[in-house]
Amino acid sequence: SLTAKDKAVVKAFWGKISGKADAIGQEALGRMLTAYPQTKIYFAHWSDQSVGSAQVKQHGKTVMGAITDAVGKMDDLIGGLSSLSDLHATKLRVDPGNFKILSHNILVALAVNFPADFTAEVHVAVDKFLAALSAALADKYR
Ligand code: HEM
Repeated sequence: SLTAKDKAVVKAFWGKISGKADAIGQEALGRMLTAYPQTKIYFAHWSDQSVGSAQVKQHGKTVMGAITDAVGKMDDLIGGLSSLSDLHATKLRVDPGNFKILSHNILVALAVNFPADFTAEVHVAVDKFLAALSAALADKYR
């Protein structure tokens, strides 16, 4: 689980990236849809799934906003993300294995855009945070 140190490292790093959060979200979502095309099935109702489309941009912003919100709820991710988990489980029916795929693409987008700040220490703390967030999002699947 997340240590006090992990939480502090994630918070400090998020402070540095917050001005580019929308762009990170858009890049991560675009990478996921391109490199893991099996994820496109969940967005079949979009008129344009291509990288840089208005829908990908808007949704990247939405997802990253929810993650930034979760940074403020690291002491209770399961409680804080319970309605979002319920939405993904019962309405969207997203296979929870995909949370790991999106998390990976977020890490890649962060590393590419903040090469100096993305130290090994930041890498491990953000990886642990995204794994805990993914577990919280998967909590209502039972
Ligand atoms: C919608 C967050 C992972 C598929 C949403 C919404 C948020 C969100 C905030 C909007 C909810 C609303 O309208 O009330 C997240 C977070 C994720 C995540 C924080 C993990 C880091 C995924 C993954 C997939 C997915 C991995 C599928 C591969 C969807 C779909 C929608 C959605 C299909 C509805 C989009 C639309 O109709 O425009 N998500 N999500 N999500 N999410 Fe996720």
